[in-house]
Amino acid sequence: MRESVGLVWTAARRPFAALTTLQLFGAALTAAQVLATQWVLSGILALSSSGVRDVLLPVVALALLTAITAAAGSLQTSISRFVGEAVTRTMWQRVLDVSTGVELRKFEDPRFFDRLERVRASALTRPFQVTNGLVGCIGALASSLGLVATLYALNPLLLPLILISGIPVILTSRQESRLEFRFNLAQTPRLRLRTYLLILLTGRDEAKEVRAFGLSRNVRSRLNALYDGYFRDLTRHLRRRAGFNLVGQLTSALVLGATLLVLVWLIAYGGLGVAAAGAALVAVRMLAGQVQGLTGGIQSIFESGLFLDDLHDFLGLAPRRAELEVHGTPIDFGEIVAQDVRFTYPGRTEPALDDVTVRIGRGEVVALVGENGSGKTTLAKIIAGLYPADGGAVAWDGVRVEDLPPGDVRASTAVIFQDFVHYALDARTNIAFGRPDEAPREDRLRAAACAAGIDDALSALPTGYDTPLTRIFEGGHELSGGQWQRVAIARAFYRDAPLVVLDEPSAALDPRAEDELFSSLRRTLQGRAALIISHRFSTVRNADRIYVLDQGRIVEHGDHDELMARDGSYAELFRLQAAAYLPQSDR
Ligand SMILES: Nc1ncnc2c1ncn2[C@@H]1O[C@H](COP(=O)(O)OP(=O)(O)O)[C@@H](O)[C@H]1O
Ligand SMILES: [Mg+2]
Repeated sequence: MRESVGLVWTAARRPFAALTTLQLFGAALTAAQVLATQWVLSGILALSSSGVRDVLLPVVALALLTAITAAAGSLQTSISRFVGEAVTRTMWQRVLDVSTGVELRKFEDPRFFDRLERVRASALTRPFQVTNGLVGCIGALASSLGLVATLYALNPLLLPLILISGIPVILTSRQESRLEFRFNLAQTPRLRLRTYLLILLTGRDEAKEVRAFGLSRNVRSRLNALYDGYFRDLTRHLRRRAGFNLVGQLTSALVLGATLLVLVWLIAYGGLGVAAAGAALVAVRMLAGQVQGLTGGIQSIFESGLFLDDLHDFLGLAPRRAELEVHGTPIDFGEIVAQDVRFTYPGRTEPALDDVTVRIGRGEVVALVGENGSGKTTLAKIIAGLYPADGGAVAWDGVRVEDLPPGDVRASTAVIFQDFVHYALDARTNIAFGRPDEAPREDRLRAAACAAGIDDALSALPTGYDTPLTRIFEGGHELSGGQWQRVAIARAFYRDAPLVVLDEPSAALDPRAEDELFSSLRRTLQGRAALIISHRFSTVRNADRIYVLDQGRIVEHGDHDELMARDGSYAELFRLQAAAYLPQSDR
């Protein structure tokens, strides 16, 4: 309760206050309606002695009260919609503070990711539920108090009776809430799988592979199996819920019958007027409705409990210092040394990097080669300052990364990963994201695109650099894999950082593009250092130094000629690749 009030209060102070006021006003109206009913009834009962005129005023009053109540209700609906949206926005802001602020390493932790997924999935519905639950509770509570006070005023004897009549519904509603909560908790994992399968069958990126492999039948039958299981559980759950509900309603009905009998008794022997008894009857019905509203509200909040717990824990992960602090000064470094670096991914036992030592001098082009899974990308992430090393250290001119101002390493590196992001935005933005905190500078943007060999292709698009690089938006245009890779490389160049890290940048490039890019790489880099990961020896052979990684360890290093002369694993891999291009007789 405290959590949700806090959330709603920070999100929309004034509308929430207005909403609460309206609820209290509504409660007063409810009580007034009961009194008006009594007034109408006494008017009717006195019809024989007085005229119709005496009933007119109370009837008009009752009608007016009813109309005002309805108007207040619809105003309330509008305001609570507004509050709900405001809560959603506030919530997203908090969630984004965490999701963008935590270190990358958190994303390796399945529990973190699960929680993020849950918070993200429920972010659109839960805040409404919390808000409505809360507002409903306040209103129902206030109205119940008003009704109780009115009943007390009518006849104090009515009070205990009324209170008792509410008990069965409260008890069974509580049971129902518990059932619902447990049901939802148990279904969550299956629900997530179901959502994923639905994405698989409706997603744009997945559509081609789903067709190419003919996956739809297989995936749909998985989906059906999940749904079948869900419906079995749902049926069982709904039956039990209905059972509880029935018991609650029947008991309430019995108690109501008893209440009526007592009312009759009070009219006959207790000196209760018929009008007051009629009003009491209306009040009892109203009270039952309010009690149901109250339990419904509590139920909403209760059902959102899991979500609020998640949210609470998740928000607790907010970083103390902004981990993604990008504002920093580029370091004009002489050398970067990764010394005896060790790194193990969370949840793994085998280290991904084991005592790795790598040096990148100012203006040098350094290459990393090695088989899949040998640790190249991991090393690139550590050198780029995205992961802290478990052991050993990365130092820029002898200063350990931990001792540098936060943000400096990031300001000094431009990284393009092998699975870089294809931003579904225009071409200019795709490149300008290299320096996201500055207004794009056209001349430098063009220069970066030229260096990456993509300027011509982008200029030729229907609306040039303003063309969205996706077909999901109107007027968009899809690029090929190789063209995308060049856009990403242009982004790295545009960042203008003293160290450029390119993880398999030539994988999707055609041989001519690769040759153009890498034969002119030093010119393009203009004195910047580069760490290049590649399987293509044509890309690698001109590097100042080549490190060969094998199962997380550096097994060889040196320039191309030295490594060939060594005749180790580099030479072996090189000959293997070269041989594939030569006629059989030349091997
Ligand atoms: N996010 C991750 N979580 C756990 N293990 C990972 C993760 N990424 C990579 N690994 C493991 O770390 C090792 C090195 O991976 P990686 O650096 O990506 O290799 P490479 O880039 O040389 O192909 C592999 O055994 C891989 O399975
Ligand atoms: Mg890799």
